[in-house]
Amino acid sequence: MNHPNPGRNLAMDLVRATEAGALGALKHIGRGDKNAADDAAVKAMRAALNKMPLDGIVVIGEGEKDEAPMLANGESVGVSGSGPLVDIAVDPIDGTTIASEGGPGAISVIAASSRGTMFDPGPIVYMEKTVVGPRSSKSFDPEAPLSEQIKIVASSLGKETSEMMVAILRRERHTSLIAAVRATGARVRLFGDGDVAMAIATSLPGTDVDMLIGIGGTPEGVITAAALKCLGGSIYGKLYARDSTERAMATEQGYDLNKLLDTNSLVRGDNCFFAATGITSGEFLEGTQYLGATEGYPIEHHIRTSSVAYRSITSTVREIRTTHNLTKMQALGISI
Ligand code: FBP
Repeated sequence: MNHPNPGRNLAMDLVRATEAGALGALKHIGRGDKNAADDAAVKAMRAALNKMPLDGIVVIGEGEKDEAPMLANGESVGVSGSGPLVDIAVDPIDGTTIASEGGPGAISVIAASSRGTMFDPGPIVYMEKTVVGPRSSKSFDPEAPLSEQIKIVASSLGKETSEMMVAILRRERHTSLIAAVRATGARVRLFGDGDVAMAIATSLPGTDVDMLIGIGGTPEGVITAAALKCLGGSIYGKLYARDSTERAMATEQGYDLNKLLDTNSLVRGDNCFFAATGITSGEFLEGTQYLGATEGYPIEHHIRTSSVAYRSITSTVREIRTTHNLTKMQALGISI
């Protein structure tokens, strides 16, 4: 059988941008200033992206919801004319509060897909999300009632409903959702922030997260879709307007808040790439760490990052551990 040449694996380049984001954030972890952490990660990621052989337009620049620093929507990234035309989605830190508090599960993340294939959520910063892993994707019915959905996922995983773990962001808006999930007999894993990492956990072996449900950021939803296209999981959801003004604005701009979005409408086609680096350790990735003067690294300062690089067309999943020699990087004038 003939396969098209899948071309260059951009995820291998993109992982340098998420490593840069995580390295940028590192010195701000646990210092209580989420904007300083985000600002450092954004600047480091932008600098790394702008050295890459790609012609990118940022379609998903995170930050609008809380006026944080951001890579702006519409911004060009990469070395123009040097590589493929792509849409880019970035989140230099997903979990800025987690990073500033030194808590678990903050990551630096980026996705790319062929130009014109990424859903642009415009002004709609939130969406309802339901995420399931690869074993549940085929049988899942996003239109079924919640209790039925949980049963379908349980059966695809060979579990009882009472053995299911459903991750939900700890937010007041989810009070009735949490009660409804518990009423089915399933268990709920509440988490503070970072729904990209938690959504991806549904699709990784060895985690106890079977499903993710709830309202979270739309940019994070699109980035999640790119990762799930590579891993075989699925995301479903609808755009969510916070109030009537936002609803009117969305309708005026042609968004249909009743339309069911899925993995393939959030990122269309089969050519997407995803990379992420852990900032603080969590379900998905190990955090970025100062190694100090440990055995084998007695004199120079080193930092270790843990990352992944995924590609949809081949479903290649790479796990990458990198040791960065801080002393040498500084001597060469490479700032982090
Ligand atoms: P930030 O890192 O931008 O703060 O986003 C963290 C996050 O938890 C996302 O993972 C999630 O999609 C979103 O915030 C939920 O929004 P909110 O905190 O407003 O409920």
